[in-house]
Amino acid sequence: MELALYCPLCGYYEKKTDTPGRRGDYYTSVSVGPLFGQLLAFQFAAWLEPIRCADARLLIVEAGAHDGRLARDILQWLRVHRAELLARLEYRLIEPSPSRRARQRETLGEFTGTVRWADDLAIGEPVCGVIFSNELLDAFPVHRLGWDARHRRWFEWGVTLCKGRFDWTRLDPSDAGRWIEEFFGPLPPELLDVLPDGFTTEVCPAATDWWRRAAASLKRGKLLTIDYGLEAEEFLQPARAAGTLRAYRRHQPAADPLAEPGEQDLTAHVNFTALRRAGELAGLKTEAFHTQAQFLTAIAERAWQPGRGFGRWTSAETRQFQTLTHPEHLGRGFRVLIQSRD
Ligand SMILES: C[S@@+](CC[C@H](N)C(=O)[O-])C[C@H]1O[C@@H](n2cnc3c(N)ncnc32)[C@H](O)[C@@H]1O
Repeated sequence: MELALYCPLCGYYEKKTDTPGRRGDYYTSVSVGPLFGQLLAFQFAAWLEPIRCADARLLIVEAGAHDGRLARDILQWLRVHRAELLARLEYRLIEPSPSRRARQRETLGEFTGTVRWADDLAIGEPVCGVIFSNELLDAFPVHRLGWDARHRRWFEWGVTLCKGRFDWTRLDPSDAGRWIEEFFGPLPPELLDVLPDGFTTEVCPAATDWWRRAAASLKRGKLLTIDYGLEAEEFLQPARAAGTLRAYRRHQPAADPLAEPGEQDLTAHVNFTALRRAGELAGLKTEAFHTQAQFLTAIAERAWQPGRGFGRWTSAETRQFQTLTHPEHLGRGFRVLIQSRD
């Protein structure tokens, strides 16, 4: 999954330039229009304005910024409505890929001086401000695990090359049992009694590790992610017996995640329980776990008050808001986890 998405020569995110949006393979809240970034900017400003950090610059850190459009929407709104705050801010993009960084530089040319780049979350550098991502962690590589009912044990699915194409193969031995315990806790025997043979799920240690490092670097402020995902127990339900790993191509689910590596997007649902626990173990407080509809509606309620930086919405903005919050569009599937350190 890591190579299929990120190989510098043939990875999906390296080769394709228009992955989200109408011409790409999937929509994100960013491709709906600038309102998403504007509402985030309003909320970030409310969080950042009271923070005073004597020994560090105020930061907004965005990871997985892709073409930089969300950063531009946020910065443009801040420039018009919160100019004083913007003057004290650095906007940092965490971007390991040189080609995506070049694209982001193009998109954000008007904000030279405010925007900086880093390869990774800097270990040991304290962040005072907001660290956030939109649809980052669902694009981290997962381990795919299956249940062997006859032997009552978990195994891991690996990938093998068979007659010129990739195919699934059982790995033995594997760390599957340990991962299940780490990500879902000890499963009750009554559940294991009814779990069908071949029941499949995923774990993503890379996502939890990323969250742990982000939490550790947050000195004061908020850590937030928006993504589609589930609580741990929601993964272990009959409707998800085949797991959540999906491939997308031209807005349609593709049948085989192993087919045409580099040509289709691969994603799996985020385990929000695991993230929340990792953040709390790093000393963060969980502030909220909402659907995107609840999160954006609560922001809009405050943003609509006179003098807050939003005038009367145009019909285009109203349509954007509906798409972002409607349960059948992006409102229910996307969830928002917010943790903080005072
Ligand atoms: C699904 S896209 C989301 C794009 C954008 N945030 C949006 O909402 O439209 C996921 C992005 O995360 C990037 N990414 C993956 N691993 C990353 C990492 N470790 N650090 C920063 N970005 C990463 C990918 O290259 C890709 O651009």
